[in-house]
Amino acid sequence: MRRITLVPGDGIGPEIVSGAVAVMKAVGEKFGESFSFTTVDAGGCAIDRTGKPLPEETVQACLDSDSVLLGAVGGPRWDTLPAHLRPEKALLGLRSALGLYTNLRPARLYPALLSACTLRPDIALKGIDLVMVRELTGGIYFGERGRRETPGGTEAFDTEAYSVMEIERITRVACQTARKRRGQVTSVDKANVLESSRLWREVSHRVAREEFPDVEIRDMLVDNCAMQLVRNPSQFDVILTSNMFGDILSDEASQLTGSIGLLPSASLGDGSRGMYEPIHGSAPDIAGQNRANPLGTILSAAMMLRYSLDLAPLADAVEQAVDRTLSDGLRTGDIAAQSETVLSCTEMTQAVIDRL
Ligand code: IPM
Ligand code: MG
Repeated sequence: MRRITLVPGDGIGPEIVSGAVAVMKAVGEKFGESFSFTTVDAGGCAIDRTGKPLPEETVQACLDSDSVLLGAVGGPRWDTLPAHLRPEKALLGLRSALGLYTNLRPARLYPALLSACTLRPDIALKGIDLVMVRELTGGIYFGERGRRETPGGTEAFDTEAYSVMEIERITRVACQTARKRRGQVTSVDKANVLESSRLWREVSHRVAREEFPDVEIRDMLVDNCAMQLVRNPSQFDVILTSNMFGDILSDEASQLTGSIGLLPSASLGDGSRGMYEPIHGSAPDIAGQNRANPLGTILSAAMMLRYSLDLAPLADAVEQAVDRTLSDGLRTGDIAAQSETVLSCTEMTQAVIDRL
């Protein structure tokens, strides 16, 4: 019995997590695997209930399980709270408490969704199939920050810092990922300005050269990468980058696939336990209306089956069912063209289960 901790969170979180759980149960039944699910609070709902975005019992439940499936946290109700009480703290705190320094964000354009891609058809037709490997527990999101008084008035600061060890381990993940794909890593930085990026370049090249001579690594400045992603995304296989650049570029990449609602992610550390979540947020504007796209979360559950639970055949089955759902023309509101019928979150979930 695999023990999964569910962290549905806020907004559409509970709806999409229910969808993914239904799919996991269905695929488990089909293959004779069973899962136990424990639900805990994090984010805004935890603030409301306990006064804290990340209660200790939530961290403990995650540490005690084989893997974690998270929906989304945050919403306008909690936006004015002081920094240490913001729902986002829960996400950063969980990543750090579980030692999840790698974030894998695959972005793939499904042929059936070509018309939902925001790029010119001649560019989209060349295909998009990349994986963003984002460093997740270092850099400016975890660096020293604060405010200080200066003669000119109050000043605020955040710090980008990366150690050799942090760069080495994330480079290894990127190179291992590339090895199973097309063997090409694009390391994205801002080495023309930032010292942390210059160390990033030195270390990533050394690791790639010494340990992965079969993998090709090239550098790209982050501003250029932002442009290349919309100019010619088919050039990318694996993108290796820092916490903040990866956060920004993965939202950009998601739009190329039609909708941010489709993109899964896996956060991993050294062991097999991981945390899986769609890359989108809590979408408070459509929360509770059964309109959210559950596919990003369902595909995150598939990544969990593959990376944490060692159940690749089940992961394949879920991914193929999602493929078929899309190629059969089934659409939620975010990916539907004007003339297409719009399914609810629960109908879309059922459509995937029917195709397992
Ligand atoms: C993401 C989100 C989070 C992040 C926020 C909510 C802290 O944007 O997972 O991409 O920046 O990592
Ligand atoms: Mg983000």
